[in-house]
Parts: sequence; C-alpha cells; structure tokens
Amino acid sequence: MNIDALKTLKKTGEKFTCLTAYDASFAKVFDHCGIEVILIGDSLGNVIQGDENTLGVSMQDMVYHTQNVAQGVENALLISDMPYKSYENPVQALLNAQRLIEAGAAMVKFEGGVEHEGIFKVLQKNKIPVCAHLGLQPQSVIEIGGYKVQGRDENSANQILSDAKKITQWGADIVLLECIPSALGKQITQSIDAPTIGIGAGVDCDGQILVSYDMLGVNTGYLPKFVKNFLTGCDSIECAVKAYIEEVKNQTYPADEHSY
Ligand code: KIV
Repeated sequence: MNIDALKTLKKTGEKFTCLTAYDASFAKVFDHCGIEVILIGDSLGNVIQGDENTLGVSMQDMVYHTQNVAQGVENALLISDMPYKSYENPVQALLNAQRLIEAGAAMVKFEGGVEHEGIFKVLQKNKIPVCAHLGLQPQSVIEIGGYKVQGRDENSANQILSDAKKITQWGADIVLLECIPSALGKQITQSIDAPTIGIGAGVDCDGQILVSYDMLGVNTGYLPKFVKNFLTGCDSIECAVKAYIEEVKNQTYPADEHSY
C-alpha cells in the first residue's frame, strides 16, 4: 500500500480502512485482514501507558513502537505519530521525522495546520511523506479545555477547510480529520486531491480510522460517540477487524449515531 494506491481509491470512491497498532502481533493480524493503513498513534499514551492524555509520549516511545509494528507488517502503509514537542521548529521536526522513517514508518503524522508552514515545507523538500491532523488535536487538549468537537461554527469550519487546502499545497499527502461535523468532513474531502481519513468526521471521508483498543472494546475509559465495538457478536479479533472493514467499505460505518 502506498499513497498513490490511496489516491486511486479516492478517485474510484472506494473507502479505505485504518487502525492504530503499537506492537508486531496486532499489526500482523490487521495487515493480514487487509487494513490499508496502520497508524502507530501517540494514543499509546492512553491505551498502553494508561495516561489521561498523549502529552507524556516521547520520541523514544514512538521509535520503539514503530520498530515493533514494522516487524509485523507486509502490506499496510505505516504512519507514525510525531509526539508532543517533537516538532517545535523545522530543524527539530526534520530530525525527528527522519528517526521515525528509519524506524520503519513510511509517513509521519503531526497535529496542526498553517502554523506549521515551515515544517510542511522542509519535510516536502526532504521527501518525507506527511499526514496532517486537523480538527480536534489531542496534543492541545489542555489549551482547548477538553476533547471537544471542532469546526461547529462558520469561522472555525472555514479555518479548517482553508488549512486543509494550504497544507496540501505544501506537501501534506493525507489529511486526518478528527471530531468535526460530517458536513465539513465531506466538504474538505471534496475540496482537496489528497485522501482524507476521518475519526468522528462522517462517512464521506475517503478512509476511516479508529484506535484499535476502542474498536475491540478493550478501552473502558471515556469513549467518544464515534467509537463502535466491533468485537460485539464476534468470536475473534480477526472477525471484528473484518466486520470493521466491511462496514467502512459499504459505508454503514460511521452511521449517523457515530457522527456530529
Ligand atoms: O494517536 C492516535 O491514535 C490518533 C488517532 C486518534 C487518529 O491520532
């Protein structure tokens, strides 16, 4: 799997599937089931380390988990998250992105839009593929006062749309959209050539992602409305992952009840 294949899926209208993974064994199961994109998410701060947010995740953690996941994957596109404070300026961002690529990632993801112009441009110049992360940005949870839906009013919706257009001109290959109204997810998806990946961003995004622990019912903490437990009614993790793939492909997930 690569970015060109995802762009072809976007053009043909076939939805693609993404899950987070943090180790080789889960990554291997997801890969064998046909998940197209695997994200080594800094959500590992929540589900692996047991913290309330992702702010304590280090570059060392991300390198370690990226190496582990890479061992289990043959086909899926591997995206690795840049953790909090690992991309404060273009020089630091480039060095840390290179570490994740050396660890086995095919692409790096970081949170934010036009404020990171210099970082998008330096990564593009150095041919490091980038997935941007707009909408709800969990690394800013303290500044924004909680995990809140973004882009509900016209100004903030326009800002997210305009960010998506600019950052794709600066080299963002994929735009991940978290917790925004479905109508905005659709508008952004239709306005840019780059594939979008939604999490709480409606059924019209080009792909969908969930934190694997959430969709397997392992995370018993607070669960946002977009989470669905796909293990319900299944007797194996493979069955749950295949159910997720089927529902994303036939666009029954996310349903209205999982959307804003
Ligand atoms: O870290 C993560 O798992 C993420 C998802 C919420 C998309 O960024």
